[in-house]
Amino acid sequence: MLFFALLVKVTWILAADGGHHWTYEGPHGQDHWPTSYPECGGDAQSPINIQTDSVIFDPDLPAVQPHGYDQPGTEPLDLHNNGHTVQLSLPSTLHLGGLPRKYTAAQLHLHWGQKGSQEGSEHQINSEATVAEACSVAALLLQTHASAAPLAYTPPQVGETENQAYGHILSHLHEIRHKDQITSVPPFNVRELLPQQLEQFFRYNGSLTTPPCYQSVVWTVFHRRAQISVEQLEKLQGTLFSTEEEPLAPLIQNYRIPQPLNQRTIFASFVQAGPLYTTGEMLGLGVGILAGCLCLLLAVYFIAQKIRKKRLGNRKSVAFTSARATTEA
Ligand SMILES: *[C@@H]1O[C@H](CO)[C@@H](O)[C@H](O)[C@H]1NC(C)=O
Repeated sequence: MLFFALLVKVTWILAADGGHHWTYEGPHGQDHWPTSYPECGGDAQSPINIQTDSVIFDPDLPAVQPHGYDQPGTEPLDLHNNGHTVQLSLPSTLHLGGLPRKYTAAQLHLHWGQKGSQEGSEHQINSEATVAEACSVAALLLQTHASAAPLAYTPPQVGETENQAYGHILSHLHEIRHKDQITSVPPFNVRELLPQQLEQFFRYNGSLTTPPCYQSVVWTVFHRRAQISVEQLEKLQGTLFSTEEEPLAPLIQNYRIPQPLNQRTIFASFVQAGPLYTTGEMLGLGVGILAGCLCLLLAVYFIAQKIRKKRLGNRKSVAFTSARATTEA
């Protein structure tokens, strides 16, 4: 299975990287990222395992609308082996609607496992990983913080049929086998890299999945998965190196393991088979709790009233006594 995440990245997110060497395994591996990049140790990190029986249905989540993705333009697109992944730069004329803000497309990259592995995706659904994940990042530039809106989706199976859209990327991998190599890809319909149906997705607040792991990220993980062929998967798993020269190290297993969800809520734009709480049900629960609190308040009020009456009665009698005393005096 293949998870697809769409990630658009902005050059200055890269610039903010700080330049510390990091890898997925070994002495600079993911367990050690927080040493050089403290935000990687934060409590709202990505990826996550999406447990579908605890997501909350939000009927008001609008579908993601890619604008300009189907108009490839005339400029070739850069495809870059950056030593961590293969990354397709997207023109800034592309943007994403249906999100809290308007995000400009930046890049699309992939995560995958080692040869023959059935794992490789970053996000998991019900603890199930897929062979790869595509991630396209769209970003919003603010003065000091970039916030990003990556899209991810999860292709279900490695099949017989080639995925033509991914073919546009995979057929150029042999030109960028070594780290820091860049090639040009003729413009193509980038919309085809996204799932056909954009209505069904999970939404949560998380982070970039690589250092510096900034937590200003709104994730959209699509429920639908794309399919790639066995040959395409093997090409992805077996072509690239994470180093510039000898000793050549294969660029594989470039995925981060799921991070703790902590107190975060995952929303779903759709209802799945199985027990999902709708916002209506949550509202019902809320109303129930509110009603309970109200009863308690009323009870407290009545008891307080009773005590006050009693006290008032005492005070009255005190006042009366003193008044009488005054009169008597
Ligand atoms: C993400 O965080 C923002 C700010 O706290 C909040 O308004 C929004 O509802 C959160 N979105 C999700 C999907 O949890």
